[in-house]
Amino acid sequence: MNSDILLADDEATFRETFAKILREEGMSVTVVGNGTDAIDAVTKQRFGVVVLDIRMPGADGIKVLREIMRIRPETRVIMITAYGTIEMAVEAIKLGACDYVMKPVVMDDVLTKIRQNMKYLDLQEENKQLKQELTRRFDISQIVGKSPAMQGVFEMIRKVAPTKSNVLITGKSGTGKELVARAIHSLAAQGNRHFVAVNCSAIPEGLLESELFGHKKGSFTSAIADKKGLFESARGGTLFMDEIGHMPMSCQVKLLRAVEHRQIIPVGSTEPIDIDLRLIAATNKDLPKEIKAGRFREDLYYRMNVVGIHLPDLCERKEDIPLLVDHFIKQFNSEMGKTCAGVSDAVMRLFMSYDWKGNIRELENVIERASIFAEDDVIKISDIGLLGSHAMGLSKEDETLQTATKAYEKEYIRRVLSKHNWNKVDAAKALGVGLSSLYRKIDELEIDSHKPKRSKAKKQ
Ligand SMILES: Nc1ncnc2c1ncn2[C@@H]1O[C@H](COP(=O)(O)OP(=O)(O)OP(=O)(O)O)[C@@H](O)[C@H]1O
Ligand SMILES: [Mg+2]
Repeated sequence: MNSDILLADDEATFRETFAKILREEGMSVTVVGNGTDAIDAVTKQRFGVVVLDIRMPGADGIKVLREIMRIRPETRVIMITAYGTIEMAVEAIKLGACDYVMKPVVMDDVLTKIRQNMKYLDLQEENKQLKQELTRRFDISQIVGKSPAMQGVFEMIRKVAPTKSNVLITGKSGTGKELVARAIHSLAAQGNRHFVAVNCSAIPEGLLESELFGHKKGSFTSAIADKKGLFESARGGTLFMDEIGHMPMSCQVKLLRAVEHRQIIPVGSTEPIDIDLRLIAATNKDLPKEIKAGRFREDLYYRMNVVGIHLPDLCERKEDIPLLVDHFIKQFNSEMGKTCAGVSDAVMRLFMSYDWKGNIRELENVIERASIFAEDDVIKISDIGLLGSHAMGLSKEDETLQTATKAYEKEYIRRVLSKHNWNKVDAAKALGVGLSSLYRKIDELEIDSHKPKRSKAKKQ
């Protein structure tokens, strides 16, 4: 762990006092008194920061440092040097140590240095994760689908990626429009350049033009300095205009000009700027209908729709559901460190018959929540139901599924209870949940969990 520290110094009093201070700071510290033990410790355990005395019996600091750099080069090593060993400290830095402190050691200094290095490691880790996240998101193999519709989409992506043509992606909310836009970008020659996304519906009408094309200082009251627009920021890369169907008419005119001439004019400027970029737009609106209603320019539509990619609703490609379920389970397994193997047959049946109004995003959310609650390796109806009314970020669309699963779940739990003669311990076992979870469910779903009196009466 980054917060694990190894302290190697042959002066017992110094090292014990130092270790005590570090521990008081909440750090986890291992102390050793000579070089050989230091090498031993580093071989066995990963330390974020090692504080190393340059002069030690056994193996001296330099030797230990070489060894650390050989086995765990990511370790941050701070050397402790005394008067007369400065040259050695310089050599240590060359060998990969990141800093040194002089004896007599000022505790505050060394504490600051340790903290800085721990922070550095945290940032490095975060950076690595972000990079992984980026490749994960941009990789075309992350778009799952075997349905003919999705096969068609893959083919379009591959064909259009190497060109400069404008692309219009259509489809309902949560069908994967942004994912497809990123895939086109990453497969294109400019894939290593910027991918700039703008959500046209999220920016107020008055600001959209300046956001897209930039502005000159003083062109309006709040324009206190020149500002580069998103078109310029995306130069050489891709500009993804999401929710283009929400773009106000006034801005559509300017956009049309930019798209036709491949030039933009910042607000308050008269000088056009050439822009070389790939344009991808997306919308969940029916643009031909918007055109008829006078809300979208026909000429802009044709300009953008050089290549049109339509993503069908999830319900029109149900054969993709099992693949998507598998994909998201794997994704959340790795994110949450779980080992979930899949969903039960009942869950799959429910998924296949459910009307996924929120499309793939909704399915992804359902699997995410189920992964959190699943106590077993297989996601069961009860895990889906554990959403409960307090579930995180429920959207309106989710509520429909919630109602459906609740009804299903209530019935299911009742059946299992009845099958086990209303014995809750046995029923909980059969359901694969803890007894307290079962009680919570009984309470929440208002299940009458007592043996029905009527059946008793019949027996008598
Ligand atoms: N075919 C797919 N395979 C794997 N994941 C997908 C697929 N389609 C969509 N997703 C995932 O579903 C979520 C929603 O996708 P995305 O944001 O691309 O949808 P969208 O169409 O842009 O939605 P909105 O219109 O609401 O903005 C994302 O997390 C995305 O990674
Ligand atoms: Mg989107």
